[in-house]
Amino acid sequence: MKILDAEFVKGFIRMANDGWEQGWHERNGGNLTYRIKADEVDAVKENFTFDRPWTPIGTSVPFLAGEYFMTTGSGKYFRNVILDAEANTGIVEIDEKGENFRIVWGLLNGARPTSELPSHLMNHEVKKQVSGGKHRVIYHAHPANTIALTFVLPLDDVTFTREIWEMATECPVVFPDGIGVVPWMVPGGRDIAVATSELMKQYDVAIWAHHGMFCSGEDFDLTFGLMHTVEKAAEILVKVRSMAPAKRQTILPDDFRDLARDFGLTLPEKFLK
Ligand code: 13P
Ligand code: ZN
Repeated sequence: MKILDAEFVKGFIRMANDGWEQGWHERNGGNLTYRIKADEVDAVKENFTFDRPWTPIGTSVPFLAGEYFMTTGSGKYFRNVILDAEANTGIVEIDEKGENFRIVWGLLNGARPTSELPSHLMNHEVKKQVSGGKHRVIYHAHPANTIALTFVLPLDDVTFTREIWEMATECPVVFPDGIGVVPWMVPGGRDIAVATSELMKQYDVAIWAHHGMFCSGEDFDLTFGLMHTVEKAAEILVKVRSMAPAKRQTILPDDFRDLARDFGLTLPEKFLK
């Protein structure tokens, strides 16, 4: 099968374009990776070449040994993914130790995978384990309202989760585990990857202060929908705080407990104090 005919490739391209249309991907902002299923790899493997060099990932992900990932390219614009996927995205293979990758398709003309590959792969490694292999998508974007909140809210998981949950009744239903917050750190390296993947043991959403957001999910729809839900709630919170110094009424802790009971959710009490 031709790569561009594969459903996972079509889904990847559509998600990149949806993110662009939301305004979350100025210039080369953001990156997307997908852990490809074994049968999907088999269906497109005839297009792969194995002559490009192994390159250090910059961290170690032994639980991802031998896996294949589709990834956006470093410095590449989400705007251009739909126009030329082979130049702006690629497929990489992870070696037997989980320490090196090699490009087997795409990323033409010397392009590299996203500079956030260490964060993506460490998140994938954690999520593969805690979700029993279900989570396959890691998505990083620069949505403006979420970023704006990192300048005015205290940078802790409890405050962000509770403030964002209060902005839309669907929020605790969509992300009942809450949101993690990473303080400002230099992007692109192992340290921020370790901090983010630590949060991904508990959460499907991690906010990078003054930078953006990471979401993890089982498929493209769920992961995009998660980012969209958090950013929409963040937009409401920005509007609320712009209109008045305090909320006049809101969803209260016992309201969340009632919601949890009727929707069969487990909402951690630490967010309901
Ligand atoms: P890349 O172009 O290397 O993916 O980087 C974009 C980005 O958002 C860095 O955090
Ligand atoms: Zn970024």
